[in-house]
Amino acid sequence: MTTAAPTVQLTDRAAYDTAVDQALAAYAEYEGGGDTTLADASYDALARGIAAYERAYPDHKRADTPTDKVGGGVAPTGDVAHTVPMLSLDNVFDATGLEKWDESLARRIGGPVTGGYAVEPKLDGAAIAARYRDGRLVQLIGRGDGARGEDLSHAIGTIVGLPARLPDGVTVEVRGEVLLTRAQFDKANEIRLAHKAKMFSNPRNGTAGTLRAKDRPYVIETTFFAYGAVGLDGVDFLSGESHEAVMAQVAALGVQTTGSSGVGLRVYSTPAEVQARVEEIQELRPELPFGIDGVVIKANDFAEQEAAGFATRHPHWAIAYKLAAVEAQTRLVSVEWNVGRTGIIAPRAVLEPVEVDGSVVTYATLHNPAFIRDSGLKIGDTVKVWKAGDIIPRIESPVTALRTGAETDIVLPEVCPQCGGDIDKSGERWECAGGVTGSCGLLPSLKYAVGRDQLDIEGLGVTYLEALVEAGFIDDLGDLFFLTREQLAQATGSEKRADSLLAQLDKARQQPLNRVFCALGIVRTGRTLSREIARHFGTMDEIRAATPEALAEVNKLPGANAPKIAAHIAVMGPVIDKLVEAGVNMDEPTADNSAAGGKPLEGKVVVVTGGMHGPLAGRNRNQMNELIESAGGKSSSSISKKTSILVAGEGAGSKLAKAEELGTEILSEQEFADLLGAHLS
Ligand code: IVH
Repeated sequence: MTTAAPTVQLTDRAAYDTAVDQALAAYAEYEGGGDTTLADASYDALARGIAAYERAYPDHKRADTPTDKVGGGVAPTGDVAHTVPMLSLDNVFDATGLEKWDESLARRIGGPVTGGYAVEPKLDGAAIAARYRDGRLVQLIGRGDGARGEDLSHAIGTIVGLPARLPDGVTVEVRGEVLLTRAQFDKANEIRLAHKAKMFSNPRNGTAGTLRAKDRPYVIETTFFAYGAVGLDGVDFLSGESHEAVMAQVAALGVQTTGSSGVGLRVYSTPAEVQARVEEIQELRPELPFGIDGVVIKANDFAEQEAAGFATRHPHWAIAYKLAAVEAQTRLVSVEWNVGRTGIIAPRAVLEPVEVDGSVVTYATLHNPAFIRDSGLKIGDTVKVWKAGDIIPRIESPVTALRTGAETDIVLPEVCPQCGGDIDKSGERWECAGGVTGSCGLLPSLKYAVGRDQLDIEGLGVTYLEALVEAGFIDDLGDLFFLTREQLAQATGSEKRADSLLAQLDKARQQPLNRVFCALGIVRTGRTLSREIARHFGTMDEIRAATPEALAEVNKLPGANAPKIAAHIAVMGPVIDKLVEAGVNMDEPTADNSAAGGKPLEGKVVVVTGGMHGPLAGRNRNQMNELIESAGGKSSSSISKKTSILVAGEGAGSKLAKAEELGTEILSEQEFADLLGAHLS
């Protein structure tokens, strides 16, 4: 595998000077607000170009060059002295680079590595040192310039994975990376939107900004993974003689380490195995709940680390194997406005196609008008785009330095782009004033309602739905069940299709309440919550009678959601009445729970991974989750200590590895089917 890592070529002193200025400006911007106009990959490429030029022309090297600082200067310095310098890592980008690093390591330690190579993720956040004295977390310090870092102790209590107390009054300094998981990042931006604060452009900048912020009226939660530890105050708590052993000691204290990061910490004996693992991690990357920008490889044995020693800014015994950047620069061509199924009017960027991490990106979300306003984005701008896993690509910010003057303002819509009606601009998210009941969201909401995980009406695609709406045959979901054979034949152009759709509609009338409820497309609910609500209340009448307080009891709904859900259920009253009149089932079946064998998954948390075969063939995740819940279990999408069973199908990857690591019970499709017994039918 080779990962391209273009270096900016600096051919003369003027180009060098400009590059240093650019890098320093990015640094200053970062210090100012946690955001830089240079993409991280562009910064890296620039820094490498500067370093290459300085090696070729040492006389030209400027005193303020960012290459003399740990991390190339992109970190604010502070006033707390580090116990042991917090160093950076040297990089390699491909198998050849890895081999060369290994050869130089072997030269330094006087023979091949014998204690193995520890391999773990290179987490993309901010480095911190966490000082525990007598079992209490007393101080957090940023990396700063490596020798001194800023005091970040105000963030204590907001970082998942860094407990406030350690057992047995331990004194130790744990080092690692603080980051925003993707879920935390989205939540952070929700919170910021609600507080009218500028949205974070990516998790890394969000982490930096969050760690530094002191007097915010809201709290943003971040996550910590330790990748090292050092002694503190002369207390020698760490007895392990390898990276792996010390990390196990740290994990045993209750601190989250790279070992439980979803990638894990594994030790290999040869560089070829390390290379294979890097390729595996590259594959895992889209599935991870947080961003990684590479893989870190460390000589595992401390004696070998000591023999290898340090350069000025990085250890010789460790290396960062960088993975392809998940960000790129391109041009904003235009902005489209789409109306979602609940009437939300959302802007979408049309981009000049650009390759990001192996796929071509043409569209990116622009979130909402507030994001457009805050980012100052213009049509024609050069923009930074980033993508992580399967999430919708996002735009960070315009690169204003590259403006030509030909850029034009983004025109915000005056009327709903779909129905031409008024827009409700009272919130940060604009909505068609017709809202959830208006005609605007009708097509997307019908499409959702007939989908595989809701009413599962096969053969009723968007073309026929459009024809039915256009002919005036349906104004809402309820009307669907009153369609006549003639109407269906007219809209689909075939009597045969009409007959098969009538049969499908009959089948849909028998769907369990959770699917009928889900089909209503109630705001802030999806498949999982719909199942939980249906199970909790049992009948549609009970759901309709539920107060926001009663709804909030379902799976501890976030406070603000329950009233919104209750209000939308009330609004949907006439549609529900129509469905009842049409004979659509309004009960959640309990038969499964009384099936022979009782509830075989009672009290168990079950995670499914990989493709389902054999007795479970063809079941998608939602159907698997339905099955689990009907057998009394709780479905979950991620492995943790709370997971009781992992059902591992074909192609199971990181979840299987993590389950093995945690000692979770792992079942094949057949074993799981056997356990379910009668519930399967
Ligand atoms: S070890 C002496 N391990 O990458 C070795 N660093 O580019 C110090 N990072 O400053 C670092 N994941 O912020 C190490 N598993 C990992 C890491 C990691 C992320 C960061 C860290 C460091 C930077 C170096």
